[in-house]
Amino acid sequence: MALKASNPTTTKAWEKLQAHFETIKSTHLKDLFSADAKRADDLTVKWEDFYADFSKNRITTETVDLLVELANELDLKDAISKYFEGDIINATEGRAVLHTALRAPEDAEVFVDGENVIPGIHEVKRKIETFTNAVVNGDHKGHTGKAITDVVNIGIGGSDLGPAMVVDSLQYYKNQLETHFVSNVDGDHYQEVIKNLNPETTLFVIVSKTFTTQETLSNANSIRAWFLKSLPQEAVAKHFVAVSTNIESVKGFGIAEENIFPMKDWVGGRFSLWSAVGLSISLALGYKHFESLLDGAHKMDTHFKTADFNENIPVIAALLTVWYNNFFQAESEAIIPYTQYLNQFATYLQQGIMESNGKSVDRDGQKVNYQTGTLIWGEPGTNSQHAFFQLIHQGTKLIPTDFIGYVESLYGNKDHHNKLMSNYFAQTEALMNGKTEAEVLAEFEGSTLSEEAIKTLAPFKIFDGNKPTTSLLIQKLTPESLGKLIAMYEHKIFVQGILWNVYSYDQFGVELGKQLAKSILKELEEDDIKANHDASTESLVAFFKKNC
Ligand code: F6P
Repeated sequence: MALKASNPTTTKAWEKLQAHFETIKSTHLKDLFSADAKRADDLTVKWEDFYADFSKNRITTETVDLLVELANELDLKDAISKYFEGDIINATEGRAVLHTALRAPEDAEVFVDGENVIPGIHEVKRKIETFTNAVVNGDHKGHTGKAITDVVNIGIGGSDLGPAMVVDSLQYYKNQLETHFVSNVDGDHYQEVIKNLNPETTLFVIVSKTFTTQETLSNANSIRAWFLKSLPQEAVAKHFVAVSTNIESVKGFGIAEENIFPMKDWVGGRFSLWSAVGLSISLALGYKHFESLLDGAHKMDTHFKTADFNENIPVIAALLTVWYNNFFQAESEAIIPYTQYLNQFATYLQQGIMESNGKSVDRDGQKVNYQTGTLIWGEPGTNSQHAFFQLIHQGTKLIPTDFIGYVESLYGNKDHHNKLMSNYFAQTEALMNGKTEAEVLAEFEGSTLSEEAIKTLAPFKIFDGNKPTTSLLIQKLTPESLGKLIAMYEHKIFVQGILWNVYSYDQFGVELGKQLAKSILKELEEDDIKANHDASTESLVAFFKKNC
């Protein structure tokens, strides 16, 4: 069944939230803490190895109750059932959205067009496991009889960002295989990656759901041409495998059927790392770790499906986005992991969140009259503290920020980890409390500066504080806890889309540029083709052609 559609701003709960917002919008977080001794406890959710503290947000328990009322009025429960049960919730593409089925246990049942998809999923998983073991153990030899030492993932968007982020994030758990990622159609990208590779010991994994993506096919073709300079055509079978829904086109590329890892069209690109798209993850970390990643995600799925909304981490996280985006008019959200391992996490979530909810037409086909998808950005702390935190602390923009930290570090260096985490705690406290004029003046006590000079300097040193943060404290970065974390954001995306009444699983917005690029490419390649452009584009193209 289709998702229900209602404009959230016409609900009773929205009206109540608007009134509630007027009463709370100027209240300082410090005052909310002084007024309620139980606040930290009431606004924290402890689940498995996750400690999710929402109390440094500009909310009260009443805010959460009203937001939950909104979710209930918009029938989020019904939408969640449809999401997990394989209903056609990606209506504009006529598809179910079933990344959750990819991590469901073998005895689960999820039906699409009357067929239980779980056995097929586990068949592909067994194929991934067998192939991974053969490559990692050295049983799968290259054409000249040498073991594989390097794996190159060729894909873009969801066929690159998820696997690349997970492999980088879990590099501590990696095996001996070197893993590389080629995504950009910029020829310098693939050239840099292959320049030190030996074709005899390299495995190429071409990942493209559609197998029509210009970037991926260009890179795959150029890399195959490079490969064939050293090895014969029949060597392709040992060195090239593919992941796709488009089996015929993959075969047309010259990859034998046994080297194709299929995926289904109900897996969205940006949610596909759990499918065969995760083959590079499995190769890089070993199948067991890939499986743990999936298990973690499944645990989060269960939490999301079963926990009351007031105790549900992804639901509360999504409700908070609506609160800030639609009431405080905040435009962006920062995601700051306090681990260098999650260096690519915000980039990965940019696609997940912005491609999903960057929509302006609602599920009734009408232009929305409220804000939808937020801008997502971030970098690991403490590096980001020395880069853009100034603006979060003292700029004019309200930037709700997720702080992701770990209780244990992986190498166990206590000295460094305490320093890292003292920053994690300090930043959220500083963002909340700020620094008052009295505190600033107290700091000048005993200073040799004149009273006049102190008065001049003081305003620059005042911090308003009242900047909202969510602290996620996780026991340890493991494949399982990363699976939980990614799934948490996936469900947050889903809930946001339901509340904003948009379709989160299509991405028509990326098509227009692609179409235009195709026709401009012809112009760049052939002298006599001249297309109709605006004056700016025409001059730019002419300048490029003249000087290249
Ligand atoms: O950027 C648009 C997009 O369709 C993404 O959604 C997708 O992840 C990416 O292109 C790659 O697509 P494919 O896996 O079909 O090559």
